[in-house]
Amino acid sequence: MSPTPVLASTREELHRALARGTESSSPVVLVPTMGALHEGHASLFRLARERAGAGSVAASLFVNPLQFGAGEDLDRYPRTLAADLALCAEEGVDVVFAPSVEEMYPGGLPSVTVDPGPLGSELEGAFRPGHFAGVLTVVAKLFGLVRPDVAVFGEKDYQQLVLVRTMSRELCLGVEVVGAETVREPDGLALSSRNRYLEPDQRRHAAVLSRALRAAQDRAPYGVPSARWAAMRVLREEPDVDVDYLALRTPDLGELPEHPVDPVPGRILVAARVGSTRLIDNRPLTIGGATLPA
Ligand code: PAF
Repeated sequence: MSPTPVLASTREELHRALARGTESSSPVVLVPTMGALHEGHASLFRLARERAGAGSVAASLFVNPLQFGAGEDLDRYPRTLAADLALCAEEGVDVVFAPSVEEMYPGGLPSVTVDPGPLGSELEGAFRPGHFAGVLTVVAKLFGLVRPDVAVFGEKDYQQLVLVRTMSRELCLGVEVVGAETVREPDGLALSSRNRYLEPDQRRHAAVLSRALRAAQDRAPYGVPSARWAAMRVLREEPDVDVDYLALRTPDLGELPEHPVDPVPGRILVAARVGSTRLIDNRPLTIGGATLPA
C-alpha cells in the first residue's frame, strides 16, 4: 500500500498539499469523483498514476448538488469517506480533496455557471435538465482549484466526457482530458456507484443494457437501423427495464449517417430505469461497410 494520501477539506489545505507534493515541472493529474468509489474509479486512479509519473495524483470526492435535479438522488447518494480514502491509498493517490458544500460554494450556489451548449440538452440532458451545466461548473471550479495538467474521466459517463473535453478545449483551460474505458461486472453490467441501489432481481435485469449494446455492435456493419433494432429486441426481453433513450452517434456525439458505405466509428448510448434507479451505458462500435444478405 502507498502512503496515506493527504486529506484536504478546505481550499487552503488543498493548496498546501499540492504545493508540498509537486515539483513545478512535474504533472498534476486530477480524477474528479463524487466518492462512493468502486473498481471503476480504481482504474481511473491507475491511469492517473501512470500519467503523473513522478508528479501528483489528486482525487476529488464531492457530491455536487448543482448537478442533481429535483426528485433525483442527491440525499440518498452514498457517502463512504473512510472506504474511499482506503481505496485512494491503495491506488497511490497523493491528495484527496473532500470539501463540504459550503467550502465549494461559499455564499451559496454560483450565479455564474458554464453553459454546456446544445449537446447539454440532448440524450442525458433531455432527461436531466441543468445536469450538465452543474457538472461543467463544478469541473471548471475543480480545474481552477487544482490546476491539473491532465484530468481523467470514465467513459461510462460518455456525454460528460465529451462535454468536459469540449469545455477544456473551447475555453482554453489547458487541461488534457483523458477518457478511461468502462469497467464491467462479469455479466457485462457497467460499474456504477448507483448499482448499490439495485435489489437482487433488479441487478440481474440490469445486465440487459450491456447485452443490448453488444447485440447492436454485432449488427452495426449493416447500418444504424439494424443496430438499433438488434439492441431494442434485447432490451424488450426485460419488461422491468424502462428505456429512456437508445442513440447511435459519432464518437463526439454528432449525427451518424444511417448507412455509411465505408465503416465509420460510432458510439451507442443507452439510459434506462430499473425500479427507481437510473442506469446509463455506452460502447464504441463501427457502423456500415456491409450490406444485408438478400
Ligand atoms: O462523474 C462524476 O462523478 C461527476 O459528474 C463529476 C465529474 C465528479 C462532477 O461532479
